[in-house]
Amino acid sequence: MRWGRELPRPLGLVPTMGALHAGHLALVERACDECAAVIASIFVNPLQFGPNEDFARYPRAFDEDAAQLRALGVALLFAPTVDAMYPPGFSTDVDPGDVATRYEGALRPGHFRGVATVCTKLFHVAGADRAYFGAKDAQQVAVLRRIVRDLDIPVTLVISPTVREADGLALSSRNAYLDAAERAAAPGLYRALCAMQGAVAAGEARRRAIVTAGHACVQPPLREAYLDVVDPASFEPIELLGPAQHALAIGSVWVGTTRLIDNVELPVPA
Ligand code: PAJ
Repeated sequence: MRWGRELPRPLGLVPTMGALHAGHLALVERACDECAAVIASIFVNPLQFGPNEDFARYPRAFDEDAAQLRALGVALLFAPTVDAMYPPGFSTDVDPGDVATRYEGALRPGHFRGVATVCTKLFHVAGADRAYFGAKDAQQVAVLRRIVRDLDIPVTLVISPTVREADGLALSSRNAYLDAAERAAAPGLYRALCAMQGAVAAGEARRRAIVTAGHACVQPPLREAYLDVVDPASFEPIELLGPAQHALAIGSVWVGTTRLIDNVELPVPA
């Protein structure tokens, strides 16, 4: 089935897991500006959650989400059940390989296989020309670029900047899990990434020294999961930045039982 077959072109696709916030809505608005019609999807994808993760309690707000998408002018909302997406006998998965092994891939074994599998299906059923994703999930972007290329999927990926709260915290459906003290501490992650950016702007090129600049901002109750300097395409660490090299500062912290992720670009002086 090609859900977008009858819709005008160019056709945009915005995949989400729902519980929509301004970060999601910015993707939808951009897609509506740039495309003749937009399909949004809401599907909390069990394949990308580990057995001890938050699949069951992941926030769900279908009616509100649907109303917001309709108000923005989305032509079609695709919100399948788990059984419709993965009927009995479903057994194929898409393994993105190396780019999915470090950082989020290491902390969430199988996560990117789940993301790659569901997005491959969504690309096929939507038949869209463009698919919109957020820069906030930078490793997800690297994985999706890899599979689109490797599997010749005829879709153009459009990546939009991270939408943040006034204090720098990246919007995330999981921010709803934070209590007041955790919420107050959470922007420390963004501050750590900005400190890494500052070190690079000041001429620091060594991975270890750049990461050290970030460590200072991760204070209790935050607990560091990782901070690093990586190549945005391969997600391999970069030991020494070369002039004008493309690089990302990536980070993740635990706050209580919630783990947050974020990243910023590292403009390396020429
Ligand atoms: P979800 O977390 O719902 O995010 C849907 C899209 O919104 C993703 O492309 C994500 O990067 C983007 N997004 C989330 N927070 C953002 C923010 N603060 N600013 C900008 N964009 C933001 O990511 C997923 O769902 C799933 O893995 C999915 C791709 C739908 C596959 O199941």
